[in-house]
Amino acid sequence: MNLVVALPGEVLPQEYFDVRYEVLRKPLGSPRGSELLSDDNTAIHAYISFYDKIVAVGRIQLIVGDGSVKDPVGSNCPAFELLSDGIKTVLTDDKGQPFASNLRPAVQVRQMGTLPEFQGKGFAAKILFALEEAAKQNWNARTGWLQARLAAIAFYKKCGWTSYGVEYEVNKVGAHRSMWKKL
Ligand SMILES: CC(C)(COP(=O)(O)OP(=O)(O)OC[C@H]1O[C@@H](n2cnc3c(N)ncnc32)[C@H](O)[C@@H]1OP(=O)(O)O)[C@@H](O)C(=O)NCCC(=O)NCCS
Repeated sequence: MNLVVALPGEVLPQEYFDVRYEVLRKPLGSPRGSELLSDDNTAIHAYISFYDKIVAVGRIQLIVGDGSVKDPVGSNCPAFELLSDGIKTVLTDDKGQPFASNLRPAVQVRQMGTLPEFQGKGFAAKILFALEEAAKQNWNARTGWLQARLAAIAFYKKCGWTSYGVEYEVNKVGAHRSMWKKL
């Protein structure tokens, strides 16, 4: 097993995007090309190779605005309202400890996927942890945010993330909940 972390601007192998397409786009019936995000060049990426085959991928980006995004598949992910400047919110982390203010620099995890035959081997957890560490080192990230498909919430919880707020529908993808983590 080999874990690679690619910093912003580094060239990613085509296979990285092939895995992203297979796991996250093809099941939605989305065309090839929809796996490419316009800000991939400014994100940090991580992937795992197993016997020279990329089997798991993920990315993290600095949140400049409110975290809302419009995807190439035509879906709209809503803002992380708690991040909006001026909101005084006391969040509770996964250990029940209060964590208030200074939520930024904040980062967003997206496009996490493991090929079905390689799931359950701890690959995505390794990728997520590597992304969190890289975001702390490179951007001094204080909090992480993501929009989780319902089926993935248990995975993120195992990795120390906390869900909050109501469930919402992301067009063309399905039901989601927002999650956060103190980094
Ligand atoms: C979510 C996903 C990335 C997890 O990948 P994975 O490589 O199988 O995850 P890991 O093996 O690293 O799992 C880490 C831990 O989470 C647990 N876990 C993973 N998926 C789980 C699930 N669906 N339900 C419950 N627990 C789960 C594992 O059992 C493991 O627990 P352990 O540490 O006690 O052994 C993978 O299922 C996937 O690609 N799903 C389809 C795409 C997707 O939904 N991506 C997320 C979009 S928000």
